[in-house]
Amino acid sequence: MTTVVYLDYNNSTMETKIRQVEPNRIDRNIIEEAGRLIAAGELVAFPTETVYGLGGDAMHPLAARKIYAAKGRPSDNPLIVHIADFADMKKVAARLPEQAGKLAEAFWPGPLTMIVEKNDSVPEETTGGMNTVAVRMPEHPVALALIRASNCLIAAPSANTSGRPSPTEASHVMEDLSGKIAMILDAGSVEIGIESTIIDLTEQAPMILRPGYITREMLEEVLGEQVMVDPGIIDSDDSRKPKAPGMKYRHYAPKAELVIVDGTEDAVVQKINELVRRKKDEGKKTAVIASEETRRRYEADVVLCIGTRSDENAIAQHLYKILRECDELDAEEIYSESFQTPRIGSAIMNRLLKAAGHTVITV
Ligand code: TXA
Ligand code: MG
Repeated sequence: MTTVVYLDYNNSTMETKIRQVEPNRIDRNIIEEAGRLIAAGELVAFPTETVYGLGGDAMHPLAARKIYAAKGRPSDNPLIVHIADFADMKKVAARLPEQAGKLAEAFWPGPLTMIVEKNDSVPEETTGGMNTVAVRMPEHPVALALIRASNCLIAAPSANTSGRPSPTEASHVMEDLSGKIAMILDAGSVEIGIESTIIDLTEQAPMILRPGYITREMLEEVLGEQVMVDPGIIDSDDSRKPKAPGMKYRHYAPKAELVIVDGTEDAVVQKINELVRRKKDEGKKTAVIASEETRRRYEADVVLCIGTRSDENAIAQHLYKILRECDELDAEEIYSESFQTPRIGSAIMNRLLKAAGHTVITV
């Protein structure tokens, strides 16, 4: 399949309806309206526990094309199929590896995506021409209610313009996709803030293609076997191609240059301030991404606080919002502390390193 970027699918802007939904008291009328739109081949953005998704009927090639067009996403970057019941995996998978049942039991609904062999009913548009399919059962009452109301399986990438940070609140979706999709379901800020862990079950050994909230240790404990990590996502050198096509793109890149400074707390603060002073002398506007613990120590024009180091979940939750804020600041140079936190540090740093194009100063 050749790679195509579908531009302006029908060349017209549409009215994007925005509907507030209370996750604990879901309005049936709204969910049914959204479900009918999906069933009719339209696109609806909806909250999940990780990030907002841009949903369309996974079995409808035209819906997949609309998704690529709305995001400006290359058509060789496959979509994740969202399901509400484990039995629905049989509708898309050629066969189910034994590990799938164990992982579903332990982590679904939740922030884990499994790659399995696809069957013939899944259109190649949905899987970007691949013979495998990504499947996830999200843990958000609005997402699950939408899937059930639509009576469809929902293909959903993150609901951002390709290359921008994933949306963690409905206003981010509006910024990127207003006028391009039929509806946005607004249920406030998401809980996790970084996309699901992706595990590939189609090779000899299970392999993580994208790190997330579900860690390698958690997966190994449930599977009782070693889980590999795709070398293509660890290495910054371009010779190794990540297996998840989406991981090869320089995602989440702010407009300004972003540099990560890594080291002990005092050394980092000192180095960043030194770099800030130098840029200021050149007449450049600077920003720093700092933790609650250090934010008062910086001399930059703007200091963005990502949260306290004692709460790594909060750091993950704020990351994309902060990267979006960086774009609004019109800062020319951004310095960030490193957030190699104990449990999900590799998932956080995977996103931050990509945003920085792997520019790291170690002090
Ligand atoms: O948390 C999430 O996973 C969110 C929410 C909305 O569920 N979705 C999400 O989708 O992050 P997206 O499209 O932004 O990222 C999907 C990633 C891409 O890197 C894509 O290349 C990879 O999954 N992927 C999808 N299908 C694949 C397949 N069959 N083989 C390898 N990688 C695949
Ligand atoms: Mg994405």
